[in-house]
Amino acid sequence: MRRHAISKGHDPARYSAAEAWARDVLAKMTLAEKIGQLNQVSEDSASAVLMDAVAAGRVGSVLNVVDPSEIAVLQAAASESRLGIPLLVGRDVVHGFEVMAPIPLGLAATWNPAKVEQFCTLTAAAARSRGINWTFAPMLDVCRDPRWGRIAEGFGEDARLTSVMAEAFVRGLQASPEDSLLACPKHFAGYGASESGLDYNRTYISDIELFNVYFPPFAAAFDAGAITVMPSFSDVNGQPGAGNRRLLKTFLRDRLGFRGLVVSDWAALAELPVHGVAEDGKEAAQLGLNAGVHIDMMSGLYERFVSELVDEGPENLEQLDALVLEILIVKHLAGLLEPNATKSAEPVIDDLLHSATELASESCILLTNEGGTLPIMNRNDSLAVIGPLADQREEQLGTWSFDADPQLSGSILKALKARWQGSLMYSVGLSHSRGMDEGGIEEASSIAAKATQTVLVLGEEAILSGEAHCRSRLDLPGDQLRLLDAVADAAEKLIVVILAGRPLELADVVERADAVLFCFHPGSGTGPAVADLLLGDANPSGRLPVTLPRRVGQVPIYYGRGNTGRPPLKGEVQFLDDIPVGAKQYSTGNTSYHLDVDPSPLFPFGFGKSYTDFRYDRLTVSVAGVGQTLTISIEVRVTNVGDRYGLETVQLYLRDPVARVARPVRELKAFEKVMLAPEESRRVEFKLSIQDLAYHDGRSWFVEPGRFEWFVGSDSTARMSCRMDLDASQIGDELLGHQNASY
Ligand code: NOJ
Repeated sequence: MRRHAISKGHDPARYSAAEAWARDVLAKMTLAEKIGQLNQVSEDSASAVLMDAVAAGRVGSVLNVVDPSEIAVLQAAASESRLGIPLLVGRDVVHGFEVMAPIPLGLAATWNPAKVEQFCTLTAAAARSRGINWTFAPMLDVCRDPRWGRIAEGFGEDARLTSVMAEAFVRGLQASPEDSLLACPKHFAGYGASESGLDYNRTYISDIELFNVYFPPFAAAFDAGAITVMPSFSDVNGQPGAGNRRLLKTFLRDRLGFRGLVVSDWAALAELPVHGVAEDGKEAAQLGLNAGVHIDMMSGLYERFVSELVDEGPENLEQLDALVLEILIVKHLAGLLEPNATKSAEPVIDDLLHSATELASESCILLTNEGGTLPIMNRNDSLAVIGPLADQREEQLGTWSFDADPQLSGSILKALKARWQGSLMYSVGLSHSRGMDEGGIEEASSIAAKATQTVLVLGEEAILSGEAHCRSRLDLPGDQLRLLDAVADAAEKLIVVILAGRPLELADVVERADAVLFCFHPGSGTGPAVADLLLGDANPSGRLPVTLPRRVGQVPIYYGRGNTGRPPLKGEVQFLDDIPVGAKQYSTGNTSYHLDVDPSPLFPFGFGKSYTDFRYDRLTVSVAGVGQTLTISIEVRVTNVGDRYGLETVQLYLRDPVARVARPVRELKAFEKVMLAPEESRRVEFKLSIQDLAYHDGRSWFVEPGRFEWFVGSDSTARMSCRMDLDASQIGDELLGHQNASY
């Protein structure tokens, strides 16, 4: 089945040509040259030391050199080296280059893979035109803990949405060999489960969860053609990614069929002794070789110890040859041997900005809109714009924006000024998102009192999310809640816009504001995108790729949870304040909830409002064929019942209510984003296969006969449902497995 496919993305003819060249080169290499191919060095310029190392074949790839002339000089040195093997030139091009799209969590919020793919193609061309040929993206770590700063870099809590985005990213980045960047899905695997949302922390994940939740996005990326991958820093079941043979050989290669190269994360080999799985650097290098890590990013341990290891054990030479061969194949497949390999055309900045702004617009999620507060209809009114993030070109770009040109990024204040016709007052309120009141709150509330509409822009600066930027709290930092309260007391109509790198606790904001627009740092197009949404020149269509908790103590809270044996019953839970003093032990009932918070999320996965409304009806399911040819067709009619054009994201969820291994209460299986004119109806059809019903029990994939329930609607709480029954003959032997085997 699909998840076992042997790297579907490879074109066999191109692969054979690459392999033939690589074998030929390998046969001519000295031991030092082989080791050089494993060695990756980070510099910000072509220093004399680096040039010498490249010329001598002691470095096979670099990262973080971005100046095109310096890259050209380095490639020239590589091409003049004894064997003329080109360099892989890596950079974290994670959600843009000079022009930034929303952070990946925001890209996931668009639920629009086609537009994500287009942007990736443009951004790859922008980076490739400088000579960069490899990006350490996409990050495919499913994450259910917003305390983890790197939730910003991934596509949220769901394996299917992440898989769809993975395919879009890889296809977009690798659209053509000349103008492309090699994709490097990361961090294999389970890094997003870091305990307590703390970066680099350990993870313990069962094989069941690895196969059903954490691996599928990687499998999707490999199927789409990814030929490099980066393991995680964190230890997965006691073994850090860079030395984890079970993960990198048994699972990555044997089970997922990956063919290509593995690059360690930054100095990850050197961290193996720190984790406590290697005595010293030499043993760490041996573990890396054994696990099949091809490229050592920045620890220098392969350079120091592989020669010694080869002297001591002939099997190490065999391992080394296999690794070098695969590195060379990847270099060939990346088009680095083509003449003019680094001279692709630079895309037009306006095209990039247009694409980034469209994505920014589709990424913003309208959470509340009391009494049709939005869109603002009268541009001649008086408007107060307030907040530490209202006029920040750089903070709205989010993490991994170091190549961004802030001049290309427009703030919300600037965009509103350009569109507003009445009077517009501005006050920053707090100097930055962590700022404490120094008199700004008073000024802010006084301008709010004079305006008919107030737009308050709150949230997190870019530095509060991303790698090593975890939080134990999910509240608005600094004095933002005080600012909110003061402005809410004064304002006639209060619209709050949140810019953040993670889900935040927003109960207070929702309570005090008339409308809330939530945006994961939307990038260079933030200003125009948000202004158009507020003023009704665009209609919000972003949907949550993560569940929004009420309180941090609910974390991890996600829609695809287990049902437990005692799910909380609506209306039957008793909260802390209602429990009589001296109540008897069992008097509150024994169900699965916290005594001090409503067990439901503040907003569910998939949620997002529009300025129009959609109605669903005529849901049908039909099944045809058997086994691998079985197709399930689910159709529903969606109608725009409002008076504006609107984009609806039609979502399809599955529940397998009885299985040997308890399945999640719901799993997203498909979605489609449709534009509907007022009163327009559309039949949306989802075609699924037997694989969409399969789950992994830790040993193999299979489908159990019986009942399946489908849910269709606007978010993960969709109520419209239909039932389907399959018997063993429809499933076929291949996926039926040993139905009687006990678990
Ligand atoms: C460390 C990060 O974990 C990884 O995602 C990134 O690609 C490398 N540094 C290189 O910058």
